[in-house]
Amino acid sequence: MSLLTIDGLNLTIDGKPLVSNLSLSIGPGERLGLIGESGSGKSLTAMAATGLLPRAILPSGSVTLGGQQVIGAPDRVLDALRATVAAFVFQEPLTALDPLLRVGRQVAEPLQRRARRDGRALAGAALNREVLALLEQVALPQPERIARSYPHEISGGQRQRVAIAMALACRPQLLIADEPTTALDVTTQAEILKLIDGLVRERGMALLFISHDLPVVAEIVERVVVMRKGVAVEAGPVREVFGAPRHDYTRSLVAAAKAFDAALEGTP
Ligand SMILES: Nc1ncnc2c1ncn2[C@@H]1O[C@H](COP(=O)(O)OP(=O)(O)O)[C@@H](O)[C@H]1O
Ligand SMILES: [Mg+2]
Repeated sequence: MSLLTIDGLNLTIDGKPLVSNLSLSIGPGERLGLIGESGSGKSLTAMAATGLLPRAILPSGSVTLGGQQVIGAPDRVLDALRATVAAFVFQEPLTALDPLLRVGRQVAEPLQRRARRDGRALAGAALNREVLALLEQVALPQPERIARSYPHEISGGQRQRVAIAMALACRPQLLIADEPTTALDVTTQAEILKLIDGLVRERGMALLFISHDLPVVAEIVERVVVMRKGVAVEAGPVREVFGAPRHDYTRSLVAAAKAFDAALEGTP
């Protein structure tokens, strides 16, 4: 069974197409990359996958998440899907965090929601233990201190780790990461990428990894869909698509990545 199936998705605003006839699917434990230049429709596709589209943008076609139709589904159904099947990590960790709440409180919330759904009470010392355990799993140093901190008191990389912890708290089958390393410095980028890679493998989660950065995507996924101007221009296993790109646009992405590598290594 597929976890996420997008079939013939169209997104329009005022009748103008933003995404056209897009299809992709992700099975349990599979890792798929969505790559393309800025404005190609990657984020809108991810939002459509979880029913989070802005109101002005109209979807048609079919999106099923955990076997449920997302397009036209009531909020009640979408909330349940988002809490159990799919969780989001965004480019800017502050999107997921409330500036006025201590980190520990924020991580506790999805943990409690998940526990309620499982018919389990979770509060007090037990909740505290689970919060600290989760912060440890995303390799945050001194989890007690981090739990007591407000988002502005920790670094950008630490905030992204907290956002990842919150996404994991509901134990989703599918993690959707939309440019999760783009806002971070290069060293932190590599660490967060490694963390996501490790967590997805350990937990057997499926991953939809969105990025404009080809080398980043190639490192973490098995298959890719290349988007340009709202259309999927190429799709397949990473090695095939990047090793022997068929579409001009994919070729230009590969050439740019190679030129960048060469520049880093100081070779012409
Ligand atoms: N809320 C919105 N209202 C109107 N247009 C939007 C909105 N969000 C995105 N768009 C447009 O849809 C296109 C795709 O956007 P997006 O999915 O964010 O691209 P990407 O994530 O690939 O950079 C862009 O042309 C963008 O301007
Ligand atoms: Mg985007």
